[in-house]
Amino acid sequence: SGTVPIPGPSAWPLFGNVLDFNRDNPTMTMEEWAQKYGEIYRIMLPWGPLYVVSSQAMVNELCDESRFRKNIGGGLLELQNGVHDGIFTADTNDPQWGLAHRILTPAFGPTSINGMFAEMHEIASQLALKWARHGSETPIMVTDDFTRLTLDTISLCSMGYRFNSYYHDQLHPFVSAMTGFLIESGERFVRPSFMSPFFRSATKKYFQDIALLRKVAQDVLDERKKKPSDRKDLLSAMLNGVDPKTGQKLTDDSIIDNLITFLIAGHETTSGMLSFAFYELIKYPETMKKAREEVDMVIGRGPILLEHMSKLQYISAVLKETLRLCPTIPSVEVAPKGDQVIGGGKYLVPDGSDIILLYSAAHRDPRVHGDTADKFMPERMLDETYKRTNDEYPNFWKPFGNGQRGCIGRGFAMQESILIMAMLLQNFDFKLDDETYELQYLETLTVKPKNFWMRAELRHGLT
Ligand code: HEM
Repeated sequence: SGTVPIPGPSAWPLFGNVLDFNRDNPTMTMEEWAQKYGEIYRIMLPWGPLYVVSSQAMVNELCDESRFRKNIGGGLLELQNGVHDGIFTADTNDPQWGLAHRILTPAFGPTSINGMFAEMHEIASQLALKWARHGSETPIMVTDDFTRLTLDTISLCSMGYRFNSYYHDQLHPFVSAMTGFLIESGERFVRPSFMSPFFRSATKKYFQDIALLRKVAQDVLDERKKKPSDRKDLLSAMLNGVDPKTGQKLTDDSIIDNLITFLIAGHETTSGMLSFAFYELIKYPETMKKAREEVDMVIGRGPILLEHMSKLQYISAVLKETLRLCPTIPSVEVAPKGDQVIGGGKYLVPDGSDIILLYSAAHRDPRVHGDTADKFMPERMLDETYKRTNDEYPNFWKPFGNGQRGCIGRGFAMQESILIMAMLLQNFDFKLDDETYELQYLETLTVKPKNFWMRAELRHGLT
């Protein structure tokens, strides 16, 4: 009693609001609805309602894990076609999640990541060398090259496997299979089931993509079993790790689910973040200058070392601010544990319903950021300022998700990205290839800039 109806657009029979989505950029549609209907609204999908919240206050309330849990609905449920109950797609109550969580978390802890610095540095240097050789007259397809970087880095560091992506014009078949898998999972999710017969060839390709992903992971696993190694990486943790709680180990099938999960989760998002970061730096030359000055001061022209990483505070803030404005996972899903009344007694959300936390909108909440909400200002992400804002507006910045289901690879992504950014700023000046380029988005469950090309000119000899 006392609650009010949750507003939302009117819905069509059978399809609900499915046809109202911008198919290339569904997140944008949800942001537009947030503008129109406010911090919570309801849309209809063929199988029922979906709630979307988009303010810091509501996101904060729904980050309470005693009242809300990660919901495996929609796109995530479709991803299970490829990676089953791997760590990203498993329900929190599924014993497979707890098992994987306990075995895999240490593999991405601070000590392990420090140990990966040399391999990260090697892959980063290959990219710098490639851009130096290409010279300032060659347009760089930014997202492709960052995808080469992040895929090669996660696979080398976590499983000792080399994709050698820089040596191929086409991205590795794993990447196109992965993109196909992600896009079609998203499409299947919004497609009413009675439409399926019209999508037989899409379905065939979908399962071929999945087969390729699983074949690549199987090859990596077989190779390691053939040539055992004393590397202390993710793959070793999966093969040898014993769960302290249950004494169990991961099965081969589960290892494959999780290898694919890490290859996907571990590079797509980071590549998008780096691409957006360079777009923002080029667009805000003063910020570029400050970032470059920090690199010159902390590192100078010498080699980049592990100990520099924690000193590059401004670069770190640039990446965090990039994720505020362009969170590469723009939303996550939760479900209420039992009926919940939210928004100060106003709205009833029933047990188990689908609720989207629209981070991409909540990150720009004017209550938190005033009239600078849309502006790229890394200063607000420097530690002191960030802490002050977060004390007043808890959970205002959530690009790595929430609580026990938050990102395992955050430290990995940050170290890898600070390193490459420092190396690139140390060595190159950047500009847009086409000066009239305006940011467009490409959404495949994660988000990246679309058609973003730039040029890199050496500042001096490569360091
Ligand atoms: C989970 C974002 C990099 C591995 C998540 C979640 C988000 C996220 C939002 C929560 C998803 C949900 O609630 O459904 C990001 C961003 C990254 C990044 C923005 C880069 C900028 C990485 C990297 C790895 C990784 C490099 C691997 C090394 C994972 C895994 C989970 C996860 C395994 C699932 C954890 C669980 O459910 O227990 N990430 N991530 N991520 N991320 Fe990341």
